[in-house]
Amino acid sequence: QITPPKPLIVKDRGDEVDDGKKKVTIFFGTQTGTAEGFAKALVEEAKARYDKATFKVVDLDDYAADDDEYEEKMKKESLAFFFLATYGDGEPTDNAARFYKWFTEGKERGEWLQNMKYGVFGLGNRQYEHFNKVAKVVDEILTEQGAKRLVPVGLGDDDQCIEDDFTAWRESVWPELDQLLRDDDDATTVSTPYTAAVLEYRVVFYDPANAPVKDKNWNNANGHTVYDAQHPCRSNVAVRKELHTPVSDRSCTHLEFDIAGTGLSYETGDHVGVYCENLDEVVEEALRLLGLSPDTYFSVHTDKEDGTSLGGSSLPPPFPPCTLRTALAKYADLLSSPKKSALLALAAHASDPTEADRLRHLASPAGKDEYAQWMGASQRSLLEVMAEFPSAKPPLGVFFAAIAPRLQPRYYSISSSPRMAPSRIHVTCALVYEKTPTGRIHKGVCSTWMKNSTPLDNCHDCSWAPIFVRQSNFKLPSNTKVPIIMVGPGTGLAPFRGFLQERLALKEAGADLGPSVLFFGCRNRKMDYIYEDELNNFVNSGALSELVVAFSREGPTKEYVQHKMMEKALDIWNMISEGGYLYVCGDAKGMAKDVHRTLLTILQEQGCLDSSKAESMVKNLHTTGRYLRDVW
Ligand code: 2AM
Repeated sequence: QITPPKPLIVKDRGDEVDDGKKKVTIFFGTQTGTAEGFAKALVEEAKARYDKATFKVVDLDDYAADDDEYEEKMKKESLAFFFLATYGDGEPTDNAARFYKWFTEGKERGEWLQNMKYGVFGLGNRQYEHFNKVAKVVDEILTEQGAKRLVPVGLGDDDQCIEDDFTAWRESVWPELDQLLRDDDDATTVSTPYTAAVLEYRVVFYDPANAPVKDKNWNNANGHTVYDAQHPCRSNVAVRKELHTPVSDRSCTHLEFDIAGTGLSYETGDHVGVYCENLDEVVEEALRLLGLSPDTYFSVHTDKEDGTSLGGSSLPPPFPPCTLRTALAKYADLLSSPKKSALLALAAHASDPTEADRLRHLASPAGKDEYAQWMGASQRSLLEVMAEFPSAKPPLGVFFAAIAPRLQPRYYSISSSPRMAPSRIHVTCALVYEKTPTGRIHKGVCSTWMKNSTPLDNCHDCSWAPIFVRQSNFKLPSNTKVPIIMVGPGTGLAPFRGFLQERLALKEAGADLGPSVLFFGCRNRKMDYIYEDELNNFVNSGALSELVVAFSREGPTKEYVQHKMMEKALDIWNMISEGGYLYVCGDAKGMAKDVHRTLLTILQEQGCLDSSKAESMVKNLHTTGRYLRDVW
């Protein structure tokens, strides 16, 4: 049985009462809740260890209303921990963006943080070029500005087991905190590996006939003009088209969301967040494994009935009351690999002791390598794990509180420009369909939903999804005469289709356009040369000066965009020398890294620069916003 712990975190933002206790602030920058969970887990154990201290967990966005307040409050912090995730091209999470901008832009503040002792734990993925950049940068600046680093920055790697990285880093924190916070009366606590998810929550069941209004946020779009991830806008699928030809063995969907009359707006280069649903077959399998009625109408809460907190605030965010079938379709991530904490929660509800032991072993330090192999490398999904441990039948509250994470919105680079398509948001989405090492066919949740969606032009009862727009800094230069170089193979073409629509509209409105070149790459002209006619039209109309396409599987050797860039090295050098912008969009792990290396080579060769000069030139392009990357 999972036993609810005592309330852990009091989110008091009010004036602090000076009770003689040392105050420790734990900041988090989180996107999917992992950093927040670690922050709270640190506090949970610290509270048990140190009686003479108070701990406060703070969302970086809630901490201060503006830059001045950040400065004023930060100055007073004497002991702080930062849990910071890094995304995409080395970017902070949305809730840390304001803090990060302020903090990194204020390098010349001097040693103003001499009062502070601190530790930083980063959440990232080693497969990416800017591994844990946000954590590393914040750690560096904290030291530069006079704060005293207690422990080396923790570099959590989501490619391996980030829970273990956190456990190891946390172990390095205790001896430091012992020195600062320990009272001789404090009992020695032996720490356990991070397993979290022992949470307090409340499940309410409803009679379906009298259930409260369902899905309030998601259905009411019209009239609500401020949309964000918490308030998405219901949008119909107006158009859906397959972009690959029938001879291709893969699929790429062009989708248009209708945003007319919703008040939702976007700019060229922005991203759209899409909430999608699990496939029916996936939901059915989950229902079978849970053995619960699909019509159970319920909600999960982290507050008591009187509205006060149960303390289970590291639970995934709540969802509106609905049936179990709906909850599984819309809110549960059923296809990712379960975290160790989820295995322990499953173990607690396994009636077969052998199964329970095996689950506990996989979650234990002794089972570390096995977990990495059995779970990580073989990409076992939550449903596969549940199928292999059939005696584990968690009750519905445990399932949604501690086992299945929330299904996250998927982000896409918008492939249209509002100048051409003011009432539509276009998406260009490659289908994720692959065989995993266990032989399971992994169907991407959102790409499959898009591929199967019913557009309005086919049927009145069309598909729809809750969507919202996330701003990006991937923008055309404000001066239309500035040269631009765009590199976007595959669906990396998406934002450049938007750019080119925008340039065409500007040209038609009389603007003078500077030179532009697009490097696009695909496998074969006859299979996956997406938007071919449109790209040729952009050239014919003068919106694009030059189109260069690399076909990787037509000839005897692979031709990639970076090979084509080498052929055009002089043009690229000239355009950059004239103040041009370079944009790269697409796969971060392979393509963007290779393109980056190619750029360095081009600058070295064409500019007769040594490698460090070329590096600093690229760095300069990056910091001045002339080398922009939208990569994933
Ligand atoms: P491939 O599948 O033949 O390897 C769009 O996905 C295009 O990008 C495809 O032609 C793909 O080629 C190519 N691609 C794959 N890896 C790449 C890399 N590291 N750099 C550039 N292009 C790459």
